Amino acid sequence: MAPHRQVDGVNRHHWWRDAVIYQVYVRSFLDSTGDGIGDLAGVRAGLPYLRKLGVDGIWLSPFYPSPQADHGYDVADYRDVDPVFGDLAEFDSLVAAARRLGIRVLLDIVPNHCSSEHPWFREALAAAPGSPERARFHFADGRGPDGAEPPNNWHAMFGGPAWTRVTEPDGRPGQWYLHMFTPEQPDWNWREAEVAADFERTLRFWLDRGVDGFRIDVAAGLFKHPELPDSPDPEADARTRDSVNPLAWNQPEVHDVWRHWRAVCEEYTARDGRERLLVGEVSVPTAREHARYVRADELHQAFFFDLLSAPWDADAFRKVISEAMQDIAGTGSTVTWVLNNHDQVRTVTRYGEPAPEGSGLGAARARAAALLMLALPGAAYIYQGEELGLPEVVDLPDDVLTDPIFRRTGSRARIRDGCRVPLPWSGQASPFGFTSGAEGTKPWLPQPEYFAEYATHRALADTRSSWHLYRDGLQLRAALDQLGDGTLRWLDTQPGVLAFARGDGLVCAVNFGTAPVPAPVSGTPLLASGPCPTGVLPGSTAAWWIDAP
Ligand code: NOJ
Repeated sequence: MAPHRQVDGVNRHHWWRDAVIYQVYVRSFLDSTGDGIGDLAGVRAGLPYLRKLGVDGIWLSPFYPSPQADHGYDVADYRDVDPVFGDLAEFDSLVAAARRLGIRVLLDIVPNHCSSEHPWFREALAAAPGSPERARFHFADGRGPDGAEPPNNWHAMFGGPAWTRVTEPDGRPGQWYLHMFTPEQPDWNWREAEVAADFERTLRFWLDRGVDGFRIDVAAGLFKHPELPDSPDPEADARTRDSVNPLAWNQPEVHDVWRHWRAVCEEYTARDGRERLLVGEVSVPTAREHARYVRADELHQAFFFDLLSAPWDADAFRKVISEAMQDIAGTGSTVTWVLNNHDQVRTVTRYGEPAPEGSGLGAARARAAALLMLALPGAAYIYQGEELGLPEVVDLPDDVLTDPIFRRTGSRARIRDGCRVPLPWSGQASPFGFTSGAEGTKPWLPQPEYFAEYATHRALADTRSSWHLYRDGLQLRAALDQLGDGTLRWLDTQPGVLAFARGDGLVCAVNFGTAPVPAPVSGTPLLASGPCPTGVLPGSTAAWWIDAP
């Protein structure tokens, strides 16, 4: 977070406008109980590390009671802690410890769907068609003879049809229920007032326990077209993990929910002056659509995924950044940048392809992209391990894969286990200090030997590590008025290079090519993602300078 400042003559300072939040994937962060799975006490133990890194807050992936069909994004009880991760007392200790260190805590709330083990879904299965219990979800009769065909042609995001047929209490094949992800994740019916009321109870439950806000899963979901008609292009829906079915996503009613949740947050802020934050996982087709989610009375932030999806190419990056600045920041909001998360192939690997393995190109580009992201106006999210320069683990054997996408599509394409491998902390061999368990305790996903190179202890001791780049970038963001919230001005450059100025004299440039180019500023850089001699910007490198007049 940059210091209190005036931007364009307006005091726009709200902590979240340019916050840097660290995403903690709890089961892979640090295991304090020795079962090979990370937990809340582990997160608490890791807070000093995060404070040293200099982030403003953390977002915790779901830790609620759950059968873990989708690693916690299948919630059976929204107002408790799964024993695998701890308990409410441990949660309270974590929040208190984070508060003492000045680290804000965001929880992950999952309002589009729950777990098929949620008591309300179990009640729905036991109740009759047309009952109030079933009305909380989307139950419908099938089509075709005996209702044996799904009610419409929608595809689930993780493969297969979006409908599953139930066996009625009398043993006969019965109605179908809708699940946009896996069958273990039935979608809520947000047209039912009880559903909205229960989520408000959940928000208040955690706000009363002191959290600073929520990351909202599938925030362009929740409402479906009221008639549940066939999708116009089911093949397109099936081809991608993006939410493209216009009848299942991005319905206008969802904005009323965000207005209400924002009002709940404001109510808490009015009580104690602490601004709460709502950040939405918003996948919509255009930056302009995206901007509708961050209107002044809706979500504070929404992840802008176009940067994450852009290929390593100067024109592609410039296009998405310009669109975001115009269509999102242009409406008075800030852009929320993200390069990595628990659903995506890590940047080091993504940007490395198809470079020869071991060339270091992906690592260099990932560092350059990080420096670019931290120089952009707005907020940024860092996914655990990104600060260590961790690559994706691409060769996990099939029998350890847990991502339901693998099970449901039979394909390794786009599976998410490789970015979720437990973090290396210390030592030369797995578990690299990840677990406090007795010798032989295995992390829930196997760590490759080469993780030794990336262990946090090693990264902290080596000033050339990615960790130091992130830490230095965050320190400069906090110290320099030019960074954080505000605007940018593109500078003329040669093809394959991007350069922009921030405020009074800060310049960031990125060389997307592999050959060196003249630096846009003559002095020594303040910070660079790799060796950067004065006057030169080497290939796959980004740097920041102060351009003194
Ligand atoms: C998005 C989450 O990031 C992902 O991990 C999850 O599988 C889906 N939403 C469904 O909840």
